[in-house]
Amino acid sequence: MLLILAAGASVSLAEDAFLKRNQYDIAVPTGLPPNQALRHVDRRQVMLGQRLFFDRRLSFNGTLSCAMCHIETQAFASIQSATSVGFEGQSLRRNAPSLLNVVYQNELFHDGREPDLAAQAWSPLLSPAEMGNPSVGYTIKRILALDDYATMFKEAFGARGVDMQTVGEAFAAYQRTLLSGNSRFDRWKFGKQDGTLTEIEREGYGLFVGRARCSTCHIVGDDSALFTDFKYYATGIGYRASHRTNPDAFSVELEPGVLTHVKRSDIDSVSARPHSDLGRFEVTLNTADKWAYKTPSLRNVALTYPYMHDGSLNTLEQVVDFYDAGGIHFDGNNPLEPLALSTDEKMSLVAFLKTLTEDSLLRGPPSKNN
Ligand code: HEC
Ligand code: HEC
Repeated sequence: MLLILAAGASVSLAEDAFLKRNQYDIAVPTGLPPNQALRHVDRRQVMLGQRLFFDRRLSFNGTLSCAMCHIETQAFASIQSATSVGFEGQSLRRNAPSLLNVVYQNELFHDGREPDLAAQAWSPLLSPAEMGNPSVGYTIKRILALDDYATMFKEAFGARGVDMQTVGEAFAAYQRTLLSGNSRFDRWKFGKQDGTLTEIEREGYGLFVGRARCSTCHIVGDDSALFTDFKYYATGIGYRASHRTNPDAFSVELEPGVLTHVKRSDIDSVSARPHSDLGRFEVTLNTADKWAYKTPSLRNVALTYPYMHDGSLNTLEQVVDFYDAGGIHFDGNNPLEPLALSTDEKMSLVAFLKTLTEDSLLRGPPSKNN
C-alpha cells in the first residue's frame, strides 16, 4: 500500500515538474491593473486554446468558430451586425462583446449569468443557435477525432487529457491572454507622458469624469482603468427594444461604418423569431433588474460598433446623444439624468472615447482604403 502511494506520488511530481516548465507570467500593458490569473500561465494550454478558438470544425456542421463572432481584427467583437448571426444563419438576440481584457470579468455575458470563464465556452459550443453541438460527449468525441488534439491535450493537461473541464480550461487560458491597454489615453494618464492628448480630448476626459458623470459607472482609477464597475443598470435600451413598434428590425453593415436597417423577414436565411430579452432579470428574477445590462468596458470602443447589448446604436455620436437625453425613462428607475451638453462638449466627449483605442489594434482591421 505504502509502495503504491509512493509510486503514485513520484509520477505526479514528475508530471507536475513537466507542466511547470511551460509556465510564464504575462506582462500587463499600461493602464490595466495586475491580475493573479496572469501569473504562471501555461504556454501549451494557451496555444491549444488558441487553436480551438479558431477551429471551425468544432461546430456541428463545421462552419462556425468562436473567432467568427469574436473577430481578431475587430477587437474580438464583430461589427458586421447588431446582433450575432449564428448556426445556419440564425440571428442571436445580442451583440457579440469584445473579449479583450475578459480576464478581469467575474460575471460573463451582458446579463452576467456565467461566473466561470472555463465553463462559459460550453454555452456557445452547445447552443443550437451558435455552434450547434448536441452534447458534451459528442463534442469531446469530435475533438478526439481531429488531427493531433489528443496529443496536444496530453501535453497541456497531462493525464487528464480531453474532458469537459480541460476543453473549457484551454479556451479560458487563451482568452486570458487577450489583453489590451496602452492606448494614447493610458500613456497620457498612467504613463506620465504629457502631450499625448489634444486639448479637445482632454476636455472630453474632463466631462467624462466630471459633469457628464460617465465615470460613476465606467470607472477610471488612480493607477489603472477598466472603464466598468461590473454592475448592471437599466438605461432604457432594453426597455425600448421590447416596446419598439418594429421589433424585428436589425442593422447590417454594408461597408465599414455604414449600417442599414433591415427587417428580419426581408432575409430568408435569418430566422424571423422575435427575441425577448429582459437582461439581468433573467438571472435574478428581481423586478428591479428588468432590462438591466452589465456596464461594458469602453476600451477600444471606437472599433467595437455597433453599441449596447443589442447593437442598437451605430455611432459614438448616437451614444453621446443618448446619454445627453438622459437615456430612456421607464417606471421611474432610470439611473441617468439629462446632461444638457453643448454641441462642442458632445464632440469632445466623442474625441476622448476615441483615445481609448490601443495603437496596435488600429493597424488591425483591413480597410478598403489601404
Ligand atoms: C454566433 C456567434 C458567437 C459564437 C460562435 C461565439 N460567441 Fe461568444 N458571444 C457571442 C454573443 C452574442 C455574446 C453575448 C451573449 C450574451 O450576453 O447573452 C458572447 C459572449 C461571450 C463571452 C462573454 C464576454 C463578456 O464580456 O461577458 C465570452 C467569454 C465568449 N462569448 C467566448 C466565446 C467562445 C470561447 C466561443 C467559442 C467556443 C464563442 N464565444 C463563440 C457570440 C458568439
Ligand atoms: C449608470 C451607469 C452608467 C453611466 C452613468 C454611463 N454609462 Fe455607459 N453604459 C452603461 C451600461 C449599463 C451600458 C450597457 C447598456 C446596454 O448594453 O444596454 C453602457 C454602455 C455604454 C457604451 C456602449 C459600449 C459598447 O461596447 O456597447 C458607451 C460607448 C458608453 N456606455 C459610454 C458612456 C458615456 C460617454 C457616458 C457618460 C456620458 C456613460 N456611458 C455613462 C452604464 C453607464
